[in-house]
Amino acid sequence: MRRKDQEIFAADKASYVPVFNRYKIVLDHGEGAYAWDINGKKYIDFLGGIAVNVLGHNYKPLVDAVAKQAGKLIHCSNLYYTQPQAAAAAKLVELSGLGKAFFGNSGAEANEGAIKIARKYAHAINPEKSQIITAWNSFHGRTLATLTATGQPHYQEGVGPLPAGFDYVHYNDIEELESMMSDKTAAVMLETIQGEGGVYTPENDYLKKVRALCDKHHALLILDEIQAGIGRSGKFFAYEKYGIKPDIVTLAKGLAGGVPIGAFIVTDEVANAFKPGDHGTTFGGNPLACAAANVVLDTVPEEDFLHNIEEVGAYFKGKLEALQDKYPTLIKEVRGTGLILGAELTSADYGRDIVNNCLEKGAIINCTVGKVLRFIPPLIITKEQVDEVLDILDGVLSQYA
Ligand SMILES: Cc1ncc(COP(=O)(O)O)c(C=O)c1O
Repeated sequence: MRRKDQEIFAADKASYVPVFNRYKIVLDHGEGAYAWDINGKKYIDFLGGIAVNVLGHNYKPLVDAVAKQAGKLIHCSNLYYTQPQAAAAAKLVELSGLGKAFFGNSGAEANEGAIKIARKYAHAINPEKSQIITAWNSFHGRTLATLTATGQPHYQEGVGPLPAGFDYVHYNDIEELESMMSDKTAAVMLETIQGEGGVYTPENDYLKKVRALCDKHHALLILDEIQAGIGRSGKFFAYEKYGIKPDIVTLAKGLAGGVPIGAFIVTDEVANAFKPGDHGTTFGGNPLACAAANVVLDTVPEEDFLHNIEEVGAYFKGKLEALQDKYPTLIKEVRGTGLILGAELTSADYGRDIVNNCLEKGAIINCTVGKVLRFIPPLIITKEQVDEVLDILDGVLSQYA
């Protein structure tokens, strides 16, 4: 008898644009921090849909809110008001201390909107003030503007001409940024914590100094918290950890616990750069996505919830450091904070292999940039579940040592 997963692999090969380097499992359902494949095999999920399933799988209040909203109104166009959208925007404004929110459908769309409003704001000051400075090794999305903002040239190959006006600096290098900025700088756009590029946190008051340079040049500071936001760092917005406030912050991924959504949140002054008709979206901020976002926004900012992230994150990082001590020839460095953690391997030769072996043993983890094991699990994980995953990883690493 043919296994169901083999049929799905074949159907995918025949009919799906081959852009994903997929792992050979077909996921079917989940509960909390666990997921099951179509053959009934159980996995502990420490990727959470790449930082998306913040409340875990099948979280009842989220499922109920989505089901209830689906039965009332899934979509109605932004030509009309809805209660879920108004509530979600008000919560984001309150949590961020900024002025206005706008909803799209993805991270790339949130960043695209952020770049656009920053340019529009700067244009009114000086039509030549259009430079956007981003960081090497960053990741901001796959649309043309956001992949240009992404400081990883391999994503940009062969799809040019790219939008003009983007320059790149090394993250955490404040002198380089200073030398690059002028009154032509419209915005500096950074991930508060670099995720896809290998989990790098800001060092030595970097973000405070970036904030000061932006103020000096009347440039906007855009922080991309699509991966690091929504509580993942232990604060609702990761920038709260570093004592600064951006002019624009972008969110997506975990914002609606798995329902597609993206958002940019801006100061009132920046919001005024857009007039009716300057921006829009058909689906963005629809009542279904916003009903889901409201559950996340009522849950994650709670003190106990955030405290648990810090506590479990610190425990997890300590355990990863212990693994580094045990396997110094395999693990070069452990980085990150809260529940965005990375363990850099000494070689890119076996990153994917380690992930595959963990999968075989029932743990879903991830490897980014070929050699950084990245952990961005649901935010509801427990210390026992950290032990469960790290026992599996320990067993796998022992095969390479
Ligand atoms: C920091 C960051 N920005 C933007 C994006 C793009 O988000 P999306 O894939 O929803 O377009 C990602 C996705 O990984 C991300 O990690």
